Amino acid sequence: MDFKLSEEQLMIRDAARDFAKAELLPGVIERDNKQEFPTEQVKRMGELGFLGMMASPEYGGGGMDTLSYVLVMEELSKIDASSSVIVSVNNSLVCWGLDTYGTPEQKEKYLSKLTTGESIGAFCLSEPEAGSDATSQRTTAIDKGDHYILNGTKNWITNGGTSDYYLVIAQTDKEKGHKGINAFIVEKGWEGFEIGPKEDKLGIRGSDTHSLNFNDVKVPKENRIGEDGFGFKFAMKTLAGGRIGIAAQALGIAAGAYELAKEYSKVRKAFGTEIMNHQAIAFKLADMHVQIEAARMLVYKAAMDKDNHENYDLSGAMAKLAASQAAMEVSVEAVQIHGGNGFVKEYHVERLMRDAKITQIYEGTSEIQKIVISRSILRD
Ligand code: CAA
Repeated sequence: MDFKLSEEQLMIRDAARDFAKAELLPGVIERDNKQEFPTEQVKRMGELGFLGMMASPEYGGGGMDTLSYVLVMEELSKIDASSSVIVSVNNSLVCWGLDTYGTPEQKEKYLSKLTTGESIGAFCLSEPEAGSDATSQRTTAIDKGDHYILNGTKNWITNGGTSDYYLVIAQTDKEKGHKGINAFIVEKGWEGFEIGPKEDKLGIRGSDTHSLNFNDVKVPKENRIGEDGFGFKFAMKTLAGGRIGIAAQALGIAAGAYELAKEYSKVRKAFGTEIMNHQAIAFKLADMHVQIEAARMLVYKAAMDKDNHENYDLSGAMAKLAASQAAMEVSVEAVQIHGGNGFVKEYHVERLMRDAKITQIYEGTSEIQKIVISRSILRD
């Protein structure tokens, strides 16, 4: 494996790093406190090309590789995981899904706005009773000839209130199980489409999470993605790539927390010396460093598998499992190294610790990643 980054990848990484420090860091604590969506920052990320990085240039995308996207996700997440999840969902789930499986008309109408940040998108799979068990969709889309009638509820939808376009997974024929599921593009404002209240969350509080209700929403047939019955595979394929983006987010959270703890250990004094000179702290930092490097290798490997058109179900799941565990464990240790200051908002590490938890839950819990991994390794 050659992880030597190209000149172009290094430039993209540095641009994301500079942007995050200059434009995400100011106000990040206030946005977290107030659960405020980073509207201006998202607009700027659209201008910088971060919202449709891998999508076709023909539709306004950057045409970049997955590794470049991962580098950007890592840098943004070191500072503001609320902003990076918006980037991740828009890139991996919405733009990639439409670019790969949409019709030219769907791409022209929707993708070209989503890649530039003119609009943002949401991916709607989870339901009150179908989170991990994604085949058990209760939302129905009944075929009425030239349109479908959509009914049901979706939960925990990232960009739920701020999106313009929603990719909604629904059951069209219960008898057919997962082969009776379809994916649809639904526009905000369509009659019968209601956005529920914003969730009050533990972490990624700047991002906008809602439940959605569909009451007899009329969806034109041309808004179905792929052939009839393709919806479940669409969701699985899209999520497999999404997991690489969230793995990169987790990696960034871990790296951000580690960097803060390392710098703190060089200036904070206890027992007559900087705390980095105590093995209790130095050993923690050594463990954190190793855990992050191990996770980084898995994340970059998964991105490279995708770029090399290899199967990335296994490597993506491994990357997400390892990186989200690193995010959780490293951020807890970063708080510990900061002592009392770690418990205070202005030091940032408590927010990173709260943000870390969701990476073990969304786009498939750690247990789901273990299902994907164990099925894959036991089949060989
Ligand atoms: N690519 C292509 N096809 C796939 C696939 C993949 N990665 N994974 C499964 N499939 C196919 C299977 O081949 C099978 O098709 P056939 O019958 O034709 O062979 C079909 O899909 C059903 O697969 P399974 O029998 O494996 O399905 P299952 O019910 O056992 O579930 C699962 C598998 C991995 C547990 C899946 O349900 C899953 O991933 N669940 C988690 C869902 C999830 O990640 N939810 C997160 C919500 S999205 C979110 O968080 C977005 C956000 O806002 C941040």
